[in-house]
Amino acid sequence: MHINQRTHNQFNRRQFLKGAGLLSLALAGGGAASVFSACTSAPPSASIAGVNPTAAPTAAPVTLPPSAQTTAPAAAAADLELALKATRGQVGILPGAETAVWRYQAELLAGDPASVVALPGSYLGPILRVRQGQRVRVRFTNDLPEPSIVHWHGLLVPDAMDGHPRFAVGAGQSYAYDFQVVNRAGTYWFHPHPHRLTGGQAYRGLAGLLIVSDDEEAALGLPQGEYDQPLVIQDRQFDAQNQLVYLAQGGGMMDGGMDQMMGFLGDRILVNGQPDFTLPVATRAYRLRLLNGSNSRIYMLAWRDGKPLTVIATDGGLLEQPVQRPFVMLAPGERVELWADFAGRKSGDELFLDSQKFVGAEGAELMGGMGGMGSMMTQPAALPNGAAFPVARFRVARAAQGGQTRRQRLARIERYRLADAVNAARPRQVVITNRMMAWLLNGRSFEMSGVAADEVGRVGELAVWEFVNQRNPGQMMEQNGMAHPLHIHGTQFQVLERQALPELRAGFESVRAGYVDEGWKDTVLVMPGERVKVLLKFVHPGLFLYHCHNLEHEDQGMMRNFRVDA
Ligand code: C2O
Ligand code: CU
Repeated sequence: MHINQRTHNQFNRRQFLKGAGLLSLALAGGGAASVFSACTSAPPSASIAGVNPTAAPTAAPVTLPPSAQTTAPAAAAADLELALKATRGQVGILPGAETAVWRYQAELLAGDPASVVALPGSYLGPILRVRQGQRVRVRFTNDLPEPSIVHWHGLLVPDAMDGHPRFAVGAGQSYAYDFQVVNRAGTYWFHPHPHRLTGGQAYRGLAGLLIVSDDEEAALGLPQGEYDQPLVIQDRQFDAQNQLVYLAQGGGMMDGGMDQMMGFLGDRILVNGQPDFTLPVATRAYRLRLLNGSNSRIYMLAWRDGKPLTVIATDGGLLEQPVQRPFVMLAPGERVELWADFAGRKSGDELFLDSQKFVGAEGAELMGGMGGMGSMMTQPAALPNGAAFPVARFRVARAAQGGQTRRQRLARIERYRLADAVNAARPRQVVITNRMMAWLLNGRSFEMSGVAADEVGRVGELAVWEFVNQRNPGQMMEQNGMAHPLHIHGTQFQVLERQALPELRAGFESVRAGYVDEGWKDTVLVMPGERVKVLLKFVHPGLFLYHCHNLEHEDQGMMRNFRVDA
C-alpha cells in the first residue's frame, strides 16, 4: 500500500480503524437523506470525543489572511478525520434502469458529525463543512479500476496535499491527507486529478463540495441550514439504457479526438445529480452556492423573469459587497454565490434559473457562413456550448417569516496592486495555442515533473500573469479559437484587467457583463481573442499545477507545473 511518506507517521492507523468501526456515518445510500436527517441521526460530537481520543474539541477559530503560510504542528490532533473512498455504484437518475456511476463515499472518523453531510438526493460526493483554522485528515482509498488522487480545488494546501497527478495511487491503494484550512469562508470543491483520467472520473460522478466558514462570515448572519443551498450544475449524455456516455471510442479526428479538442458536452442538465431539478422554497432569502461541475460546458446564468442576479461570493469567498448582474458567466470549475429572495412570492409560483444563449464559446458562430470546427468535422452537439436551456426551477412551497435583510457590507478583501508585483512591467504570459488538435500553454504540453524556465516563482511574492487566448495563424483552430477556463492551484488571485482582439470581440462582448471579477478567483474564463491579467501570490513552496479546467483539454495535456521556491 502506497502511503505518502510525509504524513504516514502523523496518521495513527490504530485509532483510525477503531474510529471507523464505531462511528461510520454512512453516506453511501443513494436515497434522498436530507442534510438534516443526516445530522440528527448521527451521534452528538461529545460522544465522538469520548470514543476517539484523537478528536479534540474544535480549536479556537483563527483568522488568517489568504496569504498566510500556516503549518500545523506535526502531532496536533485533527478537528476532522474521515475516510474517503472512490468507488463504483448504481443509482437511479432517470426513470427506469439505474445508472452505473463512480462516487465518493465518506465515513466520519472523528469530529463534528455536521461536517460531513450528504448532498440531498444526490450520488455526488458528500459536502465537507469546515471552519477556517481547522486541521483536516483524510484517508483516501482508491477502489476504482484505475489510478486516482483527490484535489481540493481552491484550497491553499502544501503541494503534497494538493492532489498533483504524480501522487496518483492505483486500485486498492490509499493516500493520506493532513492539512490545515487557511482559506476564507467560501465554496470550494474536491475532485480527481490523475493525468489523462480526470475528465472521465469527474464525469462519472466523482465531485464533492467543501464549504469553509469563518468568523467574519458568521457575524453576517447569512441564511443557514436549508436556506443555504448548494447547486452543482453538470451536463451529461445518457444512452437508451440510461448509462452515461463519455468520449467516443478511438482517438481519431472524427471521433474521440475531436471530442477532446472541443470538450465533451452532454445534452441533459443535472443539478445536484438530478434531472429537471426543482427546489421547493419558502418566501424568504436564500444563499445559493453554485458550482459549475461540468467537464466543458459554460453557463450564462440568468433569472427567466429578467430580474438581475445578486452575487455575494466568487471562487474564493465573499465579496466586499453584493453586486448585481443581468447574467453571470460560470465556466467549469468556477463557483458563484447568489442571494435569492423569494419574499413576496405566492405559494405555487415558479421561478427559473436559465442558461442563456451566447456566442464565442466554440468560436464557430463568429465565422459567419464558414461554419465552425464543430459543424465541419462532427455532427453538431445536440446542445451546443452557448445554447439556451433551463437549469433549475424554484417552486414557492410555503410562507416563512424572518428572511434576513441583505447586508450592504460583506467581507474585507485585501486589494493587490499592480505596482507591488515583482514583474509589474513584464507580466508572465501564458499563451494558449493549438497544434495538431492539441491545446498547449506557451507551446508546451503537460510533463509530470517538468518545469520550464518561466515556470518558477517564490513563496509570498506578488506576481502578474496574463492569459492570452490569441489567434493561431496557420493552425486548424485559427479562425475560431475557443473559450478556456484557466485554473491555478495553490493560490487565489485577483483579476486586474481584460482586453479582447477587435476581430473577436463579438464573443467577448456577448459575455463580459456576466464576469464577476470583484472577488478572489482560482479559475477565470478567457474567451477567444481575450487577454486576462491576474495578480497572485503562492503561499506554499513546491510544484503547483495551472491548467485549463475544460477537463478534456486538461486530460489532453493543457496543463503545466509551476515551481514555487521557498
Ligand atoms: Cu479543479 Cu486542477 O483542478
Ligand atoms: Cu481549454
